[in-house]
Amino acid sequence: MQISEVIGKKALQANLADYEEACRRFDWEDVCKELTFFDNGQMNIAYNAIDRHCKTWRKDKTALIWEDEDGHRKEFTFLEARRITDKIANLLKGLGVQKGDRVFLYLPRLPELYFSVIAAAKLGAIAGPLFSAFGPEGVRDRLGDSEAKVLITTPELQKRVEGICKDLPALEQILLVGGRGPLGPGEASFEAEFEKASELFRAEPMDPEDPLYILYTSGTTGRPKGVVHVHNDMISYYITSRFVLDLRDEDVYWCTADPGWATGTVYGLFGPWLNGATQVAYEGRFDPDQWHSLIERNKVTVWYTAPTPLRLLMAAGEPYAGRYNLKSLRHILSVGEPLNPEVIRWSMHVYGLPVHDTWWQTETGSMMIANYPAMPIKVGSMGKPFPGVAAAIIDIEGNELPPGHTGFLAIKPGWPSMLRQIWRDPARYREYFRVRGWYVTGDTAYVDNDGYYWFVGRADDVINTSGHRVGPYEIESVLVEHPAIAEAGVIGKPDPERGQIIKAFIALKNGFDPSEQLKEEIRRFVRERLATHAYPREIEFRDSLPKTRSGKIIRRVLKAWDLGLPPGDLSVME
Ligand code: WT7
Repeated sequence: MQISEVIGKKALQANLADYEEACRRFDWEDVCKELTFFDNGQMNIAYNAIDRHCKTWRKDKTALIWEDEDGHRKEFTFLEARRITDKIANLLKGLGVQKGDRVFLYLPRLPELYFSVIAAAKLGAIAGPLFSAFGPEGVRDRLGDSEAKVLITTPELQKRVEGICKDLPALEQILLVGGRGPLGPGEASFEAEFEKASELFRAEPMDPEDPLYILYTSGTTGRPKGVVHVHNDMISYYITSRFVLDLRDEDVYWCTADPGWATGTVYGLFGPWLNGATQVAYEGRFDPDQWHSLIERNKVTVWYTAPTPLRLLMAAGEPYAGRYNLKSLRHILSVGEPLNPEVIRWSMHVYGLPVHDTWWQTETGSMMIANYPAMPIKVGSMGKPFPGVAAAIIDIEGNELPPGHTGFLAIKPGWPSMLRQIWRDPARYREYFRVRGWYVTGDTAYVDNDGYYWFVGRADDVINTSGHRVGPYEIESVLVEHPAIAEAGVIGKPDPERGQIIKAFIALKNGFDPSEQLKEEIRRFVRERLATHAYPREIEFRDSLPKTRSGKIIRRVLKAWDLGLPPGDLSVME
């Protein structure tokens, strides 16, 4: 079958049957009519995601199917999800959590993670999901900057970050999921508190502009930025899930992302539930057999994943897909990195479906550019702007460039889920709007004559490894703490499987000699401190690193070194 035939079939029943028509008629106000607002225009995203479905037939519908890699499985209906999130909200309230307080979650993908994010929102607290691959320094930066009051974690993860509490004066309570041992001061058992908590909780009416969560993300320089989103985001989450994920009541939907990343929070939690969809959460590592058997066992119909796992599945070969009955799948989507045409062709071959690419960022809160189920795909393109979203390719002065010209990808502010602040850092927030009238994404791209957008690259030094956004500065600061390292510079190096890998150029202090053993030790040093997903796979020792007169490492030269190219203009160098 050809891609165009599959698209033709999809068009017959897609939620968004005609893209052009939808763009002409689209109005955010109309979307609001499909959601519940309280008096005075107040609202609560958690009420819309869970509670309101309990007033309809959906109350007994499955909201969450949870599985782990050891074969455990649990199911929760919307009614059960309401009861659990009400109890967690009461539990948090009992601990003294108030509207606007930060509740951080440093958890594996357990049901408690998903329900605690909803519960925090119910209460009006600001949730902070943290990827469980972070180590003590990664966690300390984020808890310190946000001044989190409560941390929900497991005893295993707590052990990993033991030493950091002394640096976190705002942290009052640690809630331990699955903790059986004796409790220290400021610690409580999640289960014991949950048992005690009362059943009913009325979702707090929120101003649409009240903060909902903070997700930390990286830029070229400085510490991670706390991207703040608000309850009003639900308008975008709801309608993009409906039009792009194409969710319907009979679907079983699986988003493979962790809620520590925007994809997991928005499309693995809020978006699908706002649509009353049944979703799967999987706590486990990537494994071709596990992934395919999960799809088969749960009859997954809509699958939102990323290029790296798709490339790994492709590399694992057809036998893995061939062993399973994957006929339930009807729609596959991807985000986070450029989606290679090869992957789409392979997917047509093994799943009988193309992969639909989507483009967005932590900051945009929801999909901005996408391939819609009923719109013809141009293999390799990110698709077209979501209805109601105005994207453009601009130059440095904000002039729109004609089709075919590469420039900065920018969006006209005004969509409901745009970031509202960088937590306590207005200057870094303003950087996104430095070109008058535009939100500047940091990506470069071009648009073709038919209005399709094509990704070119990042305009800055942000690294994208396996779809994870990593800032070079965070890694460099950990590297220079190592006793043998004098200077370190970090870049993303192109990699066929992971998109990019992290590469570090290192100058050693006097008295230390380069060796394979030292490289291994440095890798472990970064993994244990910062994060297991953000360490330099490749290390190259140099006598010294290229720097500007003010002492900044020139990454452009490092990139040229890596590719064996001439380093270009060196006039600013030391
Ligand atoms: C950056 C945003 C929340 C979405 C997941 C990542 C890159 C995202 C694509 C795509 C090529 C993409 C961009 C973007 N990116 N989608 N379809 N094709 N690149 O969110 O961690 O905030 O990273 O991911 O460079 O700026 P994020």
